[in-house]
Amino acid sequence: MSKEHRVLTGITTTGVPHLGNLVGAVLPAIKASEQKNTLSFLFLADYHSLIKNSDSNLRHQSSFDIAACWLACGLDPKKIIFYRQSDIPHIFELAWILSCLASKGLLNRAHAYKSATSDNEAKKTQDIDKGINMGLFNYPVLMAADILMFKADSVPVGQDQKQHIEMTRDIALKFNHRYGDILTPPEAIIDQNTGILPGIDGRKMSKSYENTIPIFSEEDALRKVIMKIQTNSLEPGEPKDPSDCNIFSIYKAISPNQKINDLQKLYEEGVAWGQAKKVLFEELNSFLKPFRDEYNKIIKDRSFVEKTLIEGSEKALSVSGPIIKEVRKAIGIKGF
Ligand code: TRP
Repeated sequence: MSKEHRVLTGITTTGVPHLGNLVGAVLPAIKASEQKNTLSFLFLADYHSLIKNSDSNLRHQSSFDIAACWLACGLDPKKIIFYRQSDIPHIFELAWILSCLASKGLLNRAHAYKSATSDNEAKKTQDIDKGINMGLFNYPVLMAADILMFKADSVPVGQDQKQHIEMTRDIALKFNHRYGDILTPPEAIIDQNTGILPGIDGRKMSKSYENTIPIFSEEDALRKVIMKIQTNSLEPGEPKDPSDCNIFSIYKAISPNQKINDLQKLYEEGVAWGQAKKVLFEELNSFLKPFRDEYNKIIKDRSFVEKTLIEGSEKALSVSGPIIKEVRKAIGIKGF
């Protein structure tokens, strides 16, 4: 029998997901884990967060919030191996091994590093590496270790991470060429739809634009955000075009087809914007309510979250353990 297909992805532990992330990434990842013959790995990339953030309380809180968020949104720890990167020491061991294979020239070309050096260049700084730590430089190697440690076949990521997966392939092939066919060069799965949900100002919903719709805020706060969605200035009674409307795009992402058709009719009949927002609020509120209720329950029970992650790390270690042994043996780090 062939080995099951392994899908793995990491979540950077900064900021709690918003509605765009929920419909574009969180729910699709949970759904994908239900496919037959698939073994899914999902982890909190907490050591990656060390590169940007030096606030330890924030790091701690953020990991917890994100774990609680995924659990509240339906992640089933029986179906997905859910763990903290920091609970798997094998990853860091492999990262060192891989860093002795990855060429510095390859890492010089990583987008994040290049953009940091070109900022320095633009500022006419003498040292183009000023303010850049080795963590930022090595980020792609740690990410390669995250992936190769579990022999993942596919890695669902945003477009911005594509280069990292290419580098991971490159490093895996180099390892295999030198030490034998052990590591699996992974494929990136880039979801073209991710991120197309507009925010309340019509630009892509993104934390950096401050235009997001939160998932877990209480009803009143949610209503306020919905009422702020920007529309054009058509009056009530004038027919409206759903294809060019932020309210409609958001409604479409969370509603069944029948309801989408109903709203479309209201648009043709010239619904007032206030009314359309009300319809969206009602639908969104009932869509989010189960997630919100679950989240409020989970955040009161920190030990449940901890226990879930510890159990996840035990499963993850039972996969990474034999692989790191194989790797050590191949590179000649073994008993006499
Ligand atoms: N770098 C990824 C991001 O910023 C997070 C991440 C870390 C990751 N390690 C990973 C994603 C391994 C996929 C696989 O989104």
